Amino acid sequence: MEQAWWKEAVVYQIYPRSFMDSNGDGIGDLNGITSKLDYLKELGVDVLWLSPVYQSPNDDNGYDISDYRAIMEEFGTMEDFDRMLRGIHERGMKLVMDLVVNHTSDEHAWFVESRSARENPYRDYYIWREGKDGKEPNNWGSCFSGSAWQHDEATDMYYLHLFSKKQPDLNWDNPKVREEVFSMMTWWCEKGIDGFRMDVISLISKEPGLPDGEVLPGESYAVCPCANGPHAHEYLQEMNRKVLSRYDLMTVGECAGVTVEEAKKYASLDGKELNMVFQFEHVDLDGGKYGKWTDRRVNLREFKQVMTSWQTGLEGKAWNSLFLGNHDQPRSVSRFGNDAPEYREICAKMLATCLHMLKGTPYVYQGEELGMKNCPFSGIEDYRDIESINAFRTLTGEGKIAPEDMLRYLALRSRDNGRTPMQWDDSVNAGFSSGTPWIMVNPDYTEINAARELADPDSVFHYYRQLIALRKQEKIIVHGVYELLEPDSESLYVYTRTLGEEKLLVVCSFSDKKTTIAIPEEFQNAPCLISNRKRNYEGAEITMEPYEAFVLHRIAGSR
Ligand code: GLC
Ligand code: CA
Repeated sequence: MEQAWWKEAVVYQIYPRSFMDSNGDGIGDLNGITSKLDYLKELGVDVLWLSPVYQSPNDDNGYDISDYRAIMEEFGTMEDFDRMLRGIHERGMKLVMDLVVNHTSDEHAWFVESRSARENPYRDYYIWREGKDGKEPNNWGSCFSGSAWQHDEATDMYYLHLFSKKQPDLNWDNPKVREEVFSMMTWWCEKGIDGFRMDVISLISKEPGLPDGEVLPGESYAVCPCANGPHAHEYLQEMNRKVLSRYDLMTVGECAGVTVEEAKKYASLDGKELNMVFQFEHVDLDGGKYGKWTDRRVNLREFKQVMTSWQTGLEGKAWNSLFLGNHDQPRSVSRFGNDAPEYREICAKMLATCLHMLKGTPYVYQGEELGMKNCPFSGIEDYRDIESINAFRTLTGEGKIAPEDMLRYLALRSRDNGRTPMQWDDSVNAGFSSGTPWIMVNPDYTEINAARELADPDSVFHYYRQLIALRKQEKIIVHGVYELLEPDSESLYVYTRTLGEEKLLVVCSFSDKKTTIAIPEEFQNAPCLISNRKRNYEGAEITMEPYEAFVLHRIAGSR
């Protein structure tokens, strides 16, 4: 069991645009974050990960960067950034920056040069190809609908963009591109930041020759076969040698399409690449024919299987990251649990228990610690997210999904559900802004808000605080080995963690009905470490209320 601060840490993700607006323009900003650092300290999190704060024309809310060494004007200045960083460090917390280097904005100086002429020295910073029979160079689709290629008038060629056409992909096979990225990373490390979350880093190495991909039935374009390309590990090892290994950092790669086998390389404990990866298998389980645009629910048995394959697959070899929500996902309590008023709080606590007791580094997405739920958006005009708006236009335009169905799917699955403003109190706009927020505030803020939860010792907030504090006390939560029990149960997720003679039994009910569980003998009468109901957990059999969760702790030598 090798110790490392990033294994013991709990990370809190901030979506700066929606966290706290300090100057009344309706947009969250850095000074807003600085003003809430005491709140985060009270929650007890160790690391703050900020979604991108760099200069950006905001086609994809900052994931399209036009200058990596400048702060987005709407968010503040570099002085504001430095003050925020000092405030974070003064409180003993750390800062992880989002690193978006699969692509830049089309307004980045490199791309402005690159598109200007075929002979421009920056041409090869991006991926340009001739058209094929007057059409796109290959059949790849963009993650944000349509082709992944954009024709450019100036030079009559196409450039590749796996995301929006304002997010051209960098050509990582060009050593100059890698040097530029590494020197920019070094610049931020010298500023004193503590790590990077690497945006879609599994997509940086494209298959040579850019071959056509497989077009799924009903689709117009192929899912780009770019994940874990031929040089992905080589480039990350180079990054590690040249930058990461020179600082004490935490690194997590967002790895779309990663498998357990690939993750063992990206996040190998030998430290040659990254500390951990975000995998997406568990949040892709409720997908359907049109990807995420469906009302399918996650099946608990499948969920357990996926989580277990990552827990056991990486054991002793690589490190897991644990998350149920982020800025690209709907609210976890609405999606994996039950956000009806009578269940929302107990269910948010159950999901937190289930996730935080697994092996890996847990990530809390802003508002999750309040049990924030999906937003009742009504029409397409309520949405701001480019992925949601493009998908609505394309799928309804092609007649594949009826508009009223698509609106229902969006309400369940749009990324904007996770992007509504943080709910601080019950004043106007949930205390987020004195102006007009850039996206609607969830009207439930009068009920669900931080001020109210801070004052209530039984709130979801204080439950998270307790879970986070426990991780600091009990090494077994960090290092214990995972084992799944009751794999076939349709209502319970039951697992153990083992460290030497010490053992945890984690029991979480995902059901809205009462469920009975037989307690394994070694845990009968073991003390309860944490539970989302106040009751006694002694005995051989326990009948659980809907969404109940508890953890029993068999201490070494106690039996
Ligand atoms: C990642 C980000 C997402 C963004 C995309 C393109 O998946 O998390 O928000 O839209 O990359 O940068
Ligand atoms: Ca602002």
